[in-house]
Amino acid sequence: MFKIYKYRVSILGTGFIGLCSAACFAEKDIKVLASTHNEKKAKMINDGIAPFFEAGLQEMMDNIKKKHPELLQCMLDPIKAVLETDISMITQGTPMREDKSIDLSYIESTAREIGEALKQKDKYHLVVVRSTVVPGTTRNLVGKIIKDVSGKEPGKDYGLCMQPEFLAEGRSIEDTLHPDRIVIGEFDVKSGSMLQEFYEYFYGEHLNQCPILRMNLESAELVKYGNNCLLSTKISYANEFANFAELVPNVDIVQVMKGVGLDYRINSRFLGAGVGFGGSCFHKDVNAIKAWSKSKGYTSRLLEAVLDINDDQAVHIVDLAEELAGNLMGKKVSLLGLAFKPGTDDMREAASIRVVNELIKRGIKNIEGYDPKANEKAAIELGDKIKFADSIEQVLKDSECALLITEWDEFKKLTPEDFKKHMKTPNLVDGRRLYNYEIFNKNLFFRAIGRINLE
Ligand code: UGA
Repeated sequence: MFKIYKYRVSILGTGFIGLCSAACFAEKDIKVLASTHNEKKAKMINDGIAPFFEAGLQEMMDNIKKKHPELLQCMLDPIKAVLETDISMITQGTPMREDKSIDLSYIESTAREIGEALKQKDKYHLVVVRSTVVPGTTRNLVGKIIKDVSGKEPGKDYGLCMQPEFLAEGRSIEDTLHPDRIVIGEFDVKSGSMLQEFYEYFYGEHLNQCPILRMNLESAELVKYGNNCLLSTKISYANEFANFAELVPNVDIVQVMKGVGLDYRINSRFLGAGVGFGGSCFHKDVNAIKAWSKSKGYTSRLLEAVLDINDDQAVHIVDLAEELAGNLMGKKVSLLGLAFKPGTDDMREAASIRVVNELIKRGIKNIEGYDPKANEKAAIELGDKIKFADSIEQVLKDSECALLITEWDEFKKLTPEDFKKHMKTPNLVDGRRLYNYEIFNKNLFFRAIGRINLE
């Protein structure tokens, strides 16, 4: 029998945002047609298999496959997906170009496909940009391409919204289901109201704790950059203070940032000093908005500093290692953790890459790394710059200096004895402030970001 769905949504792009949104919507009885040009990916999704690892996603896809497989389908034809739905969400990637500005080519081609579809459609259709895009993109690029290709009028024949996403990798499902707020940038009131109604249906009572903010398209686009730039700034701020802390014996950055973060106006999240941020978003977005503002005649000083401070932390941890262990040339150096954060195998912009490059720059060639999940991806990224170990024991064996780069749970359990047992000389630098400073400093040759002790 032909079922009438309250909402039919096409999701154009099947990365983290696209597929997690698709699965969460389908779980709530919304008919979802995802679309990708990648045949293998489409087949996996249609077989109920998540094409990448994200906590909770596979379980959700299993559930959909078992209970109502018709609610989540993936197509290779975006035009068909748009034509068979009432709302289309653009969730394509916006990578960083060689010159560090934003690459909007996937957004452009998707807008063209939506335009082709709307040319054939008589009913009103809502287009929502979910990708992170610089201000003006939704109106002047997406809206314009759709208008030119379809011959239809925005605000009359189709609606246009920009709704930024705030999902963090490893928390994408949780963040999709329980956002802090929903930001709706709207071309006109009708577009925004249609999207608001959709979320009222999807979120129900959660909206009692989650305000919906309505604004124009460009403001919504800038909210996303405001968010990621402030989070990056907090981290660099903590790292700058970690460098201050190291100027004074016995000052501990962890205690200092705890004292700062307990101010209700600040909060302590993202004040963790360490070897620096990585991931597919912070560098990309900070660089994109910097390049965008420069193209408009305003040069950002703050964001330049945020990136410089961050990337210098990789140099700094190698300085700490050589202060502790002496010249490391010819010695084995071990990296504990390679992924940009725990809980993922993602290596994009990972601090480990910058650390490896710095070690190599100093002529240190005997580098071995171990990551519980990211060894394979790291091998693609780092090639033969380093060797890879299959266990903690193996990576520490015969080593003369270990650097803690990613704070995985299995590293948390290590005691000074473990380092002493396996290493040739137990020198350890804690790049994430994972270990109890007093205990480790007493029992090992130890350094940590943001603290030095007087002997
Ligand atoms: C980030 C944001 O947190 C999301 O809100 C946003 O939606 C997402 O980017 C995006 O634009 O798509 P993500 O990159 O997945 O999410 O990871 P985070 O958990 O934010 O961590 C980023 C980096 O900051 C990691 O390398 C982490 O180790 C580092 N970090 C984090 C610190 O160095 N110190 C801290 O105190 C916190």
